[in-house]
Amino acid sequence: MDDDLIEKYRESGWIAAKVLREGAQAIRVGASYLDVVESVEARVAEEGAGLAFPLNLSLNEDAAHDTASGGDERLFAKGDVAKLDLGVHIDGYIADTATTVDLGTNPLLLEASYEALEHAIRTVRPGVSAGEVGAAIQHEIERRGYRPVANLTGHGLDRFVIHRPPTIPNVGITGGVILEEGMVFAIEPFATTGSGRVGEKTRKEIYQQISSKPVRIPSARLIMEHIRDRRGLPFARRWLPDKKTDIALPGLVRTQHLHVYPVLADVTGSLVSQHEHTLIVIVDGCIVTTR
Ligand code: CO
Repeated sequence: MDDDLIEKYRESGWIAAKVLREGAQAIRVGASYLDVVESVEARVAEEGAGLAFPLNLSLNEDAAHDTASGGDERLFAKGDVAKLDLGVHIDGYIADTATTVDLGTNPLLLEASYEALEHAIRTVRPGVSAGEVGAAIQHEIERRGYRPVANLTGHGLDRFVIHRPPTIPNVGITGGVILEEGMVFAIEPFATTGSGRVGEKTRKEIYQQISSKPVRIPSARLIMEHIRDRRGLPFARRWLPDKKTDIALPGLVRTQHLHVYPVLADVTGSLVSQHEHTLIVIVDGCIVTTR
């Protein structure tokens, strides 16, 4: 990978890290969920970068893929465990990073995903398998008495692409992709008090274009025109202009113009923490772009 490319990944990573820290500081009891989401997304634009996906802000047993709806009236409450997952890009080069804010008393749960990530990063170098990275994650989480979320994974990144090989598991599997110099990927351990597996909720706020075949229904066409400049990156229902979207969006999913990302949750009443960094594999280890 040439220096120019590394520089772009570093620039988006630096912005993502800074804005994520600010967002985490804004989360306190009584603060508005919608305000936090909108202010973080606005800060990315102020920094001259793009959003690689809507800010994910997922509470308690919800592990991923929640974000604010247009009229979201939720306020942060005492006891909440809030995951902020931010994707920023410069010219398509993506930084994906996440942290957890604890409004309760769960320091060990947060430490589990934090230390899992740190230990995982230390294993990364050419020739190591993704399964070995997952084993490091699983070990750090389980030795603190929690479960890793086995059906969520880290993922490779590319220009305007947020999910591609390699897959980085959160548990020790045999085999897996052998890491190579120049690979760019996110590692994202989730620690849970629940079952260690997430399922889909009915709440759906995040979508992504997966086809450019023509659309006939006017309200659906309006949506496709509105999201064209996303270049295939995910968008929020909240970003769309028109109220008819509630009918048109499921239709576009059915016709496979759009992919939908339902909220993913562990069992009711459980708590999930998450930490995530993006990194580039280099000859003797890796560069973490999102510190
Ligand atoms: Co990610």
